[in-house]
Amino acid sequence: MITIAIAKGRMQDDALALLARAGVCFGSSSLRCLSSSDESGEHTAIFVKPADVPVYVEYGIADCGIVGRDILLESEADLLLPLDLGIAQCRLVVAGRSDGAQNRGMLRVATKYPVLTSDYFGKRGTPVEIIRLSGSVELAPALGLADVIVDLVETGRTLRENGLSVIDVITESSGRFVVNRASYQLKAKPITQLLNALNQAVSGVPA
Ligand code: PRP
Repeated sequence: MITIAIAKGRMQDDALALLARAGVCFGSSSLRCLSSSDESGEHTAIFVKPADVPVYVEYGIADCGIVGRDILLESEADLLLPLDLGIAQCRLVVAGRSDGAQNRGMLRVATKYPVLTSDYFGKRGTPVEIIRLSGSVELAPALGLADVIVDLVETGRTLRENGLSVIDVITESSGRFVVNRASYQLKAKPITQLLNALNQAVSGVPA
């Protein structure tokens, strides 16, 4: 039995579709159902918040996980990172008010990514106050909580609709398949089979 932790939200549907193309079908599940077994009974999916995927996989509760590169970089978890799934492609950016307004003191940055934000501004020698939020980060500059934000941009629509523009791109992100180090040894055969099938699905080869 292989347990796969799947990030809920933006990449969940694409991850399930990709797994189905790789021959692992979890069917349609309700948003409230937090785990599901596939038709073969050999795989279980658990649906958790993106930031919790690396935790479940690092602790071996899940053998594998599907989550964005942004989350993996922020978590610094010790995982095997074998596959870029090419889903949920987006960018982690610094964005500020399109009218250029900001306060005169130390730059305040609102973000769900304090580690990556601190690293980015630290490397540039720019002192910043990091304000950690859990979501709807784009509200912060308009309401005066922060001067700029560090957040994900996919279509750019959320930035535009909240009067923000990209100042700099920190890094690119997409969905990644990650594996627990011990599971990779102990369940080598089924995990390798799953990896090969996912690799083919990503390349467009039918299962
Ligand atoms: C993400 C991200 C942006 C938005 C970007 O939020 O944090 O807010 O999507 O997408 P767009 O460029 O296509 O508009 P998410 O939906 O994950 O929710 P959140 O606000 O709770 O973080």
